[in-house]
Amino acid sequence: MSLKEDVGREQWASRLGFILAAMGSAVGLGNVWRFAYVTGENGGAAFLLIYLACILLIGIPIVMAEFTIGRKAKSDAVGSFEKLAPGKPWKIAGLMGVAAAFMILSFYGVIAGWISYYFVNYLTGNLWTAPEGGYEGFFVDFITNPYHPLLWQFLFMAATIAIVYVGVKKGIERSNKILMPLLGVLLIGLSAYGLTLGGAREGLAFLFSPDWSALTDPNIYLAALGQAFFSLSLGMGALITYGSYLSNKERLPGAAASVAGLDTLFAIVAGIMIFPAVFAFGIEPASGPGLVFMIMPDVFDSISMGWLFGLLFFFLLAAAALSSAVSLLEVAVAYFIRRFSWSRRKAALVIGGIIFLLGIPSSLGQGILSNVAIIGGRDILDSIDFIASNILLPLGGLMIALFMGWGFKKADALSDSDFGDTWLGNAWLFLLRYFAPVAIFIIFLSSIGLLDLILNLFR
Ligand code: PHE
Repeated sequence: MSLKEDVGREQWASRLGFILAAMGSAVGLGNVWRFAYVTGENGGAAFLLIYLACILLIGIPIVMAEFTIGRKAKSDAVGSFEKLAPGKPWKIAGLMGVAAAFMILSFYGVIAGWISYYFVNYLTGNLWTAPEGGYEGFFVDFITNPYHPLLWQFLFMAATIAIVYVGVKKGIERSNKILMPLLGVLLIGLSAYGLTLGGAREGLAFLFSPDWSALTDPNIYLAALGQAFFSLSLGMGALITYGSYLSNKERLPGAAASVAGLDTLFAIVAGIMIFPAVFAFGIEPASGPGLVFMIMPDVFDSISMGWLFGLLFFFLLAAAALSSAVSLLEVAVAYFIRRFSWSRRKAALVIGGIIFLLGIPSSLGQGILSNVAIIGGRDILDSIDFIASNILLPLGGLMIALFMGWGFKKADALSDSDFGDTWLGNAWLFLLRYFAPVAIFIIFLSSIGLLDLILNLFR
C-alpha cells in the first residue's frame, strides 16, 4: 500500500503497521508491572476473572468504538468529537482524555525510568548477583534516592519525545515488529521456567483458582475495570488518534479483537511468570508497585546465565514501555498541533517537557515525599494513577460508549465499524448502548459505597 497523505495527515503504510502500532500502545508496563502488582493486591484469581469480563464485555466494544470514531473523523481525541458532533458536549470526553494522557505519562515515565535503570545494571553486571543488602534493598535504595531516578525518568522521556518529534509513522511503525515478538517469546520462556519452581502450585492457584469471597469487596471491581482500560490504552482517545491515521480500507473488528487478545495474552503469561516465583521466593503478592522489581532479579539469579535473561527482560520491557509512552504523548501532541497550530516539533518538546516535570513529584513520593498521602493513604504516584486509570479512563470510556451507541444513527454505526448489519454488530451496539454504561456506572457507585446505600433502602 502506498504512503498516501490525506490532507497532510500521516497515514499508516500498511494494515500491519496500524495493528502493530495499536498493539505497541497496548502492550507495555500495564501488562507486566501494573498487572502483576494490582492482581497481587486484589487477591489473584477472582480479580483476574472480573478483569477478563471487563475486557470482553466493556473493553473490546469500546476499542471498536474508538477505532471507528478515529477513522471516520480523521482527527485527534478532541477534534474527532467536534467533527462528528459539532457544538455538542461529547468533546469533553476528548478533553478528559488529553488530561489523562498528561497524568498517566507523568508517572509512566518514572516507572519506565526504573526499568531502564535495571536494564543498565544488568548490562554493567551490577545485578548479576545479589548486591549487598539484597535485591530488595537495592530497589528501595534506588527509588528513595531524590535525584537518581529522575535522571532515568528524564532519559526515558527524552527518548519518547524524540520519537514523537519525528512523527508517529516514521517513529514507531517499524520499531515494534521485532522487539514485541521477542518480549512475547521471552515471557513465555520465563513462565515455563516459573512452572518448574517450588512455588508453581501455589502461584497457579493464586492466579487461577478464585476465592469467591473476594467478590464481595466492591473495590476489586473498580480496580479490574481500571486495569482493563489502562492495559488496553482505552478511554482517552489514544486509539481514536491512532485510528485517525488509518485508511478506509481496513476491517476494524478483526483489528480490535487481535489487539485486545494479544494484550490479554501478554498479561496472563506475565502472571504465570511472576506468581510462582512470588511464592517460591517468599515475597508478599500484595507488595505493591515494587513487586516486579523485587521478584524478577531473584528469578534471574536462580538460572545459570540468568543475567542474560535479566538483560533481555528489562531491555524489551523498556522498549514496550516506549511504544506505549509514545501513544500517550501523541494524544496530547496531536491535540495541540491542531488546536493551537503548533508544529509537531514544538508540541513534542513543550508537552513532553511539561509531562516530565509533572512526573517529578511521583518520583520524589517514593523517598523524601513519602509521607504525602493523597487518596486513601496512596502515595503521590498511586494517587495520580488512581484518578487517571480508575476514574478518568472508565469515565471517558462511558462517554465514548454512549456517543457511539446513542449519538450515531444505528445504520451508520454498523457500516462505519465494518460490522455491517450482522448479529455481531448488533451485539456490539447492545453492549455499547446498555451493558457497558450501566456496568461502569454501577461499579462507580459501588466503589464509593453508594450502591450499598441504595440497596439497603430496598431491604
Ligand atoms: N496500555 C499501556 C500499557 O499497558 C499504557 C497506556 C494507557 C497507553 C493509556 C496509552 C494509553 O502499558
